[in-house]
Order: sequence, then structure tokens, then C-alpha cells
Amino acid sequence: MSSISKNYIEDLLRKPTLFKSEETLSIDYVPEKLPHREKELSLLSQLFISLITNPNSISRKILITGGTGIGKTATVKIFGKMLTEVANKRDINIAYIHINCRKERTSYKILIKIVQYLHKNFPKRGYSPQDLLEIILETVRNKNLHILLILDELNYLIDNDKDIIYSLTRLYDDSFNQPQQISLIGIVRDISCLHNLDSSTLSTLQRNIIKFNKYTLKEIYDILSYRIQLSLKKNVISNDLIKMLSEIVLNRGDIRYGLNILWKACKIAESKDLNYISSESLRLANETLVPYSIQDFLKYLSYNKILFLLAITLSLKNSIKPSISFSKILEQYEIICESLQKKKKSYSQLWNYLNDFKKDGIISVNIQSKNIRGRKSLIKVLDIPLEELERLIYKILQNKGIKL
Ligand SMILES: Nc1ncnc2c1ncn2[C@@H]1O[C@H](COP(=O)(O)OP(=O)(O)O)[C@@H](O)[C@H]1O
Ligand SMILES: [Mg+2]
Repeated sequence: MSSISKNYIEDLLRKPTLFKSEETLSIDYVPEKLPHREKELSLLSQLFISLITNPNSISRKILITGGTGIGKTATVKIFGKMLTEVANKRDINIAYIHINCRKERTSYKILIKIVQYLHKNFPKRGYSPQDLLEIILETVRNKNLHILLILDELNYLIDNDKDIIYSLTRLYDDSFNQPQQISLIGIVRDISCLHNLDSSTLSTLQRNIIKFNKYTLKEIYDILSYRIQLSLKKNVISNDLIKMLSEIVLNRGDIRYGLNILWKACKIAESKDLNYISSESLRLANETLVPYSIQDFLKYLSYNKILFLLAITLSLKNSIKPSISFSKILEQYEIICESLQKKKKSYSQLWNYLNDFKKDGIISVNIQSKNIRGRKSLIKVLDIPLEELERLIYKILQNKGIKL
């Protein structure tokens, strides 16, 4: 019975770790430097310099776009830090407020966040959005404050509740020569979500777009090397393996995915009592890691929706173009239903599914012409390689005992 007295936690604590600073690999950690985003930082600085040189003379509205995990959020956060530092030194009042619209999905929730930033202990209920907006405007006036508001993952808000976008983009429309005290940076993954906005809002937002491009292989290598230097002990991973990891990341372009693999590979290596990451631990980590958001999304999908998602995946895989029409997906869907002898869902039901997938951020739908029942929509899968999505869907179907 000696094994009972063995303390596994003590054992683990005694083990040498490969991490120098494990928390620097966590999702929310913003590193001090962002290699290969210098250009974007400099562009943001140019656009917002008037907040310092001529406070409250102008309200800037900027839109940032680009794929997942390419440093949009991190860049803006670092920029916010720089800007407030410079402002503080000069006694200029700037409040940097970063809100994630995936978490705060209504105008009310966003407004209350801003008000609570300005007034600690402000009650959560009892005010209308209009009240809240007025409180915000009054506060900035009284405190001579400029708010730089970041609406990150703005697409979630556009699909849900556009009111605040309308009011914020119109704020100073008919006030001439008055102080302008709120600026806005919206961040979206894919510009196609903007099609749902009215033309005046659209034109305001489209005036200044900063497009973040995907990193190249070399850039990914540099970035991962830097993050490795921060998080892992010396010589835990060889340059060749960093190259291999960079190639894994290149397909998706998502640095976060690379950091997750790295973390997992470290854990695997540690569990095997290795004092370095082997190529096998890297491969294993890659195989077991599906981006969390996608795993979560697939887990709760109904059978009917899974079949429809499979239809999207297969028809896209068979297409030479990166996006595909709704009718092409329907053809594929019919084939799947026939082979499973399953009754097809109605056209409108499938169209609803499509919109749900869009809200979940799995696909983008680019409507080319609205009048023919969305038939001229181009559909694209975001963020996950099609083969991988296909493999995951088959795995789910297999677990349900369904063979295709
Ligand atoms: N140029 C870079 N240098 C260092 N780390 C980076 C860089 N770009 C992205 N990252 C890291 O990758 C992860 C994803 O970046 P994030 O800004 O959240 O992406 P996005 O907002 O575009 O989805 C974060 O952990 C971030 O710190
Ligand atoms: Mg982000």
C-alpha cells in the first residue's frame, strides 16, 4: 500500500519544468514588443496624434480588419498603452476603453461598461441606453476627457444590435465647432459583416481602414522565436523545430494557435521526462489541439446542422475558389441527405442555419444581390483548414454511430 502515501502533487512540484514563464503563453498576455507590427503601430500613431497635439478637436473613427490571431487586439492594446502614457505626461485626459463585443453583445452592455469605467460602482440597472449615452457625454465634458473606445470583434455586435454603432458614428455630425471627445476603433475579422449597416455608417467607418495582413513564414518564425524566448527556458526547443512549428502555423496564420501548440508540446515533453521538446511532442500537440472556439462550437451542434456544415465543407473542398454559392451547397446537401436517407430541411431553415454559422463566426456570407432570396451569396469558411473541419465532422458523426 505504499503507493497510497505517494503525493502526486509533491512529485510534480519536484519535477524540473521547461517553462521560464508559463503565463506569457496565456491567451490574454500582451507582450512588450510585437515584431512585424511596427508599420501598423506607426500608422495608428499618425492617425491619432491629433488627440495629443490638439485635444478634443477631432473624433477619429477607424476600422481594423484581418484574420484571427494576427495581432489586431495586441497591437491596439499596445497602442493604447503608448497613447495614454504620452497623454499622462502632458496632463491630457485620455481614457482607453477596450470592449470585446463577443462578450458584451448589446448596446446596453457596452454603454454600461463605459459608464462603469468612468464612475466606479455605477448601478447595473435602471437606465436606458439613451440615458447612459448622455451620462457618458456629460462626463467627458465635465472632466475634459477624450475616450478612445475600442469595439473589438465588432461583427458580433453588427449581427445583434447596431444601435450603438449608429449613435457613436453620428455623435458629432451636427455639432459644429464643439469639442469632439469620443474616438472609435472597430476591429472586425472580415469586412463582409459591414454589409448589414446603412450606407452613412458604412461610409464613416470605411473612410479609415487599416488592413492587417497575414504574417509570412519568416515573420511567424521571428514572432514565435520571440515568444519562446519569453516563455521557455534556454535550448528547450531547437531552431529546426521552431521552423516546423512556423510551417504548421502558416496555413492558418493564427499565432495564438502556435502558442497553444507550444504550451501543449511543453506539457507533453514534461510528462515524458524530457528536458526539451521533441518533434514527436510537437506533432502530438498539433494533433490533439483543435482551436477551442471551434471545438466548443461543434460540441453543441444539432445533427441537422452538422450535416449542413458538412455540405458546406465538402462543396468548398471541391471548389477551386475560396468561396462558394448557396445553391452549390444545397446540391451537396441533397447528396448527403440522399445517401443517409434523411429528409431534407427546408430552404428557409437552411438559410437560418447559414446565418447561425455566421453569427458563430465559422463562416462569412458575402451577399452579392439581395433580391433573389440570397441565392447570390458567396460563402467562405473562416479560420480552420477544410480538411481539418471535415475530419472533425466525420469524427462527430462516427461518435453518433453514423457512417457516410
Ligand atoms: N507580432 C507579434 N508578436 C508577438 N506576439 C504576437 C504578434 N502577433 C500576435 N501575437 C500574439 O498572438 C496572439 C493572438 O494575437 P491577437 O492580437 O489576440 O490576434 P487577433 O486580435 O488578430 O485575433 C496573442 O497572444 C498575441 O500576443
Ligand atoms: Mg482579437
